[in-house]
Amino acid sequence: MSDFLIAPSILSADFARLGEEVANVLSAGADVIHFDVMDNHFVPNLTFGSMICKSLRDYGITAPIDVHLMVKPVDSLIPDFAKAGADIITFHPEASDHIDRTLQLIKDHGCKAGLVLNPATPLHVLDFVMDKLDVILLMSVNPGFGGQSFIPTTLDKLRLVREKIDASGFDIRLQVDGGVKADNIAEIAAAGADMFVAGSAIFSKPDYKIAIDEMRTALST
Ligand code: DX5
Ligand code: ZN
Repeated sequence: MSDFLIAPSILSADFARLGEEVANVLSAGADVIHFDVMDNHFVPNLTFGSMICKSLRDYGITAPIDVHLMVKPVDSLIPDFAKAGADIITFHPEASDHIDRTLQLIKDHGCKAGLVLNPATPLHVLDFVMDKLDVILLMSVNPGFGGQSFIPTTLDKLRLVREKIDASGFDIRLQVDGGVKADNIAEIAAAGADMFVAGSAIFSKPDYKIAIDEMRTALST
């Protein structure tokens, strides 16, 4: 794995051929599969649950699966996702009454844990849980839908979180999700991100390898 991780969001995949889509995007060079769980309550859309994650494992997908929970409440779903083969589980602080407890629950189930901050969510929520975070995910769109435009103020937020991570000394991935494309990924990386979720920018292209290669090229220049 390179230092920059590319995580295609299967929200934009063809659900009727999901196993094949995931296998194809992995052969095209993806590092991690980003799995967007929406409940039509915390966010205004509905996707899939842990059974689909298990189906991907049963189909033979061995790559890391990064489960982004856009659900409220979250705790009751964590054991199921861990059993279904999730590697990373992230959630929104607004969806948990006890953030520290939810992070610990994820870790107790053997997964990496992370918090997801919406565009308007302040950073102070990170202050007393940095030691429990493996990932911080900054949303660069309001969650619920693929294909939205990157919100430019995310770049300033990324710089602030990058400083916070570096000052903490902890090994925390800084992930960005929403509107990431080959033509803005370099700027996003320069602001401090090292893990890039991209849905429509990959799955809307006829050739996933070309789409991912364009991102890697942009990251290496
Ligand atoms: C939005 C999801 C994202 C989304 C990204 O709520 O969390 O993962 O699929 O899609 P694009 O890359 O199309 O903005
Ligand atoms: Zn997501």
